[in-house]
Amino acid sequence: MVCLVARDPLDGFTVQGLCVFQHAAQEAELLMIAVDPMRRRQGIGLQLLKAGLARLQAQAQAVSTCFLEVAESNPAARGLYQTLGFADVGRRKAYYPPATPGSPADDAIIMRLDLSTLC
Ligand SMILES: CC(C)(COP(=O)(O)OP(=O)(O)OC[C@H]1O[C@@H](n2cnc3c(N)ncnc32)[C@H](O)[C@@H]1OP(=O)(O)O)[C@@H](O)C(=O)NCCC(=O)NCCS
Repeated sequence: MVCLVARDPLDGFTVQGLCVFQHAAQEAELLMIAVDPMRRRQGIGLQLLKAGLARLQAQAQAVSTCFLEVAESNPAARGLYQTLGFADVGRRKAYYPPATPGSPADDAIIMRLDLSTLC
């Protein structure tokens, strides 16, 4: 497991965001990432992901590939992952249950990044 927490540099305490990866052999999976709604679009998510992926590459058994899944209806997360070079490699139909009764279920998009392409 690799878990990273971003803290407010002003007080060194307040949590701004966090991310969690699991890994086995050369493969990793991003399990979750979230940034405080008041602090979004300030580059914190990108910094967290970059730091987590760098940590995975530095493991004794260096991770070479990272997978994740994201709701198709989540443009913020998909935009973040695309910025780093993650590409769509699969789809799980109706993977996420409806947010409200009667609304449609959401597909999960599976994304993959070859860590050797990271700058
Ligand atoms: C997804 C999330 C972690 C992004 O964190 P963030 O700190 O706001 O992201 P960043 O500021 O680092 O954004 C980096 C890039 O991602 C993309 N991005 C981020 N938010 C976006 C949005 N709302 N719409 C479109 N693209 C977005 C942009 O390309 C952005 O670069 P730019 O600001 O220079 O255009 C945040 O929105 C969040 O916590 N969402 C709720 C939890 C969640 O959905 N987690 C993912 C589950 S799979």
